[in-house]
Amino acid sequence: SLALFGKTSLAAALLGLSLGAAAEPVEIKFSHVVAENTPKGQMALKFKELVETRLPGEYKVSVFPNSQLFGDNNELAALLLNDVQLVAPSLSKFERYTKKLQIFDLPFLFEDMAAVDRFQQSEAGQKLLNSMSRKGVVGLGYLHNGMKQFSANNPLSLPTDAQGKKFRIMPSDVIAAQFEVVGAIPVKKPFSEVFTLLQTRAIDGQENTWSNIYSKKFFEVQTHITESNHGVLDYMVVTSDTFWKSLPKDKRDVIKQSLDEAIALGNELALKKADEDRQLILDSKRVELVTLTPAQRQAWVNAMRPVWAKFEDKIGKDLIDAAEAANK
Ligand code: LMR
Repeated sequence: SLALFGKTSLAAALLGLSLGAAAEPVEIKFSHVVAENTPKGQMALKFKELVETRLPGEYKVSVFPNSQLFGDNNELAALLLNDVQLVAPSLSKFERYTKKLQIFDLPFLFEDMAAVDRFQQSEAGQKLLNSMSRKGVVGLGYLHNGMKQFSANNPLSLPTDAQGKKFRIMPSDVIAAQFEVVGAIPVKKPFSEVFTLLQTRAIDGQENTWSNIYSKKFFEVQTHITESNHGVLDYMVVTSDTFWKSLPKDKRDVIKQSLDEAIALGNELALKKADEDRQLILDSKRVELVTLTPAQRQAWVNAMRPVWAKFEDKIGKDLIDAAEAANK
């Protein structure tokens, strides 16, 4: 029996050795708050596929959608604690880390997504990727979602229609000011709570992209959507300095390349979804579309444009000029 015991322990030791030799892949957790059938959701899955194909057995990407792992209130803090390695919050959610990105929230600044893209790819736009480096946040790239629309339980044709109404907003002082100038009441709430807030009528409306309004069914709990295209909702894919520097250079390059390709796919999808999801919402007949006349749209511009001056010092006049120049 001694011999048997010896053999067993030898086998166990060998098994242990061979298990030990095949090192566990390094896990990259990617957490986000939206559904999977969105530009960000699809980008994250593409990134996983590319990394795991190119670095098989070495790196593994776990994607957590729908605020499953972390939500708006804690994903950036979790990133800095290395509890998650990649997040892609909307540009409106970085205010505690930098005021520079407030540029993207200025109402009626960008004429369309092509202008947003030109600004992001410009020297000024690329510099903003490093605007949080002192806080340990590394910007790896921008990702598009699209232009924002207003939704509510009444038709918002003129700024006065928003008076006294409560709107859920992302945690951005610029967006808060944008609603305050038209006499509305902005309420900062995480994305994961928006559907219920609308459904229970705790709030009257919100602003978002066609893709988010569709994938989270906001259109089912609102009576009207105003096609305002008044602002942009885009993302910055970020990691922590600690995690990024911990990667060997050759692996980091593969991971960055994979991310760039995944972002390119996400951006293509963002453009497509803005049209497709808009159409799906209209086809559902659950909500009425408010189309602004040029004069009505101008009334919104006139009402909201004063917000720029309020934030000019913090954001910087030069940066605002550079963004405006991207309209061509
Ligand atoms: C929102 O909070 O409305 C959006 O930022 C959600 C998202 O990530 O697109």
